[in-house]
Amino acid sequence: MKRYSILLVTLALVSSGCLKGQNDPVFPSPELTIPVDESVTLQASLPFKFGAAVNNGLLRSKAAYRNVVIKEFNSLTSENAMKFAQLHPSENTYTWSEADYFVDFAQQNGKRVHGHTLIWYKNPPTWVLNYQGDAAAWDKLLKDHIQTVVTRYKGKVASWDVVNEAVAENGTLRDCIWLQKLGPEYIEKSFIYAHQADPDALLFYNDYGHEYGPTKRTGIINLVNSLIQKGVPIHGIGLQMHTRYTQSNANLAAAISTAVATGLKVHIAELDIAMNPDNIQDLTYTAGLAEQQKAKYEFIVRTYNAIPKNQQFGITTWNVGDSDSWIRGEYNRPDWPLPFDDNYNRKAAYQGILDGVK
Ligand code: XIL
Repeated sequence: MKRYSILLVTLALVSSGCLKGQNDPVFPSPELTIPVDESVTLQASLPFKFGAAVNNGLLRSKAAYRNVVIKEFNSLTSENAMKFAQLHPSENTYTWSEADYFVDFAQQNGKRVHGHTLIWYKNPPTWVLNYQGDAAAWDKLLKDHIQTVVTRYKGKVASWDVVNEAVAENGTLRDCIWLQKLGPEYIEKSFIYAHQADPDALLFYNDYGHEYGPTKRTGIINLVNSLIQKGVPIHGIGLQMHTRYTQSNANLAAAISTAVATGLKVHIAELDIAMNPDNIQDLTYTAGLAEQQKAKYEFIVRTYNAIPKNQQFGITTWNVGDSDSWIRGEYNRPDWPLPFDDNYNRKAAYQGILDGVK
């Protein structure tokens, strides 16, 4: 009985956060790091751009994060600051401060800036969802948003994910406000409007799930090829590659080779490799798992390194250290998807990336 109540009190304290130190990571990763050779960095070791998605809050609050971003990567994507709802929260209001902070940080540190993302089904603000207007008014809304944003960062943002995740799991166009109001042409219009605003920017179609299998992949590739055939200004295809260590090498290779066959530039745009796809709440990240993750990172980098050089836009990981990853919050589970651990030590996965170009 006594033991039972101690257990209850302990559980209550743990769940309320009272037993956690303020800076303790929620899911500390064990000592699974590799020795640091200060002369080695990802950006200097790889023959193509190697980038990360970055989060302004972390850039401001965590010196270790900021330092590793500056040291390791030469291309940056903003994790959230350039999305529609963040930039354009009401019809006549644009809020630039966060996106400006990100672009200034990247420029001051000599990083290429990849813009993410102009049109995404998940991210329209409420005012857009409630907007009343005929087809011409919706067309103007789309055009105004895209051209206002692209014009502001003209000459600073090298490339844009113009449309994000337009294809559903069954390979057809995903239902969304833009499809409802403008029809399938919302996609080509978005590219045309972006190109008008900055003819020098490289324009990407970005999506996930190329490695899941042929159904979604074929839908995406058919969409991209139809844009190319119509003469729409599209220059690249982004494979998000939020993947998992259990994904087969055959599927990963097929994702990359089918994208290469479009002739466009290929960006592995949001790479992370989940280690707990079955959502096991008490999973431990063991040395064995770390080795499997390393092998998967190595395979992806090796496969990418073998594609034609003029199609290599680069590889971008979706954030930096394991504790920064969206995966833990999105799926509410412990996970360790990135090449750096919670404290920005290099993991075996980091070595896997380096080994992929040897
Ligand atoms: C995610 C961010 O990482 C989260 O912080 C945010 O809450 C939701 O969006 N595909 C994308 C990214 O294209 O924009 C998503 O980023 C992850 C999935």
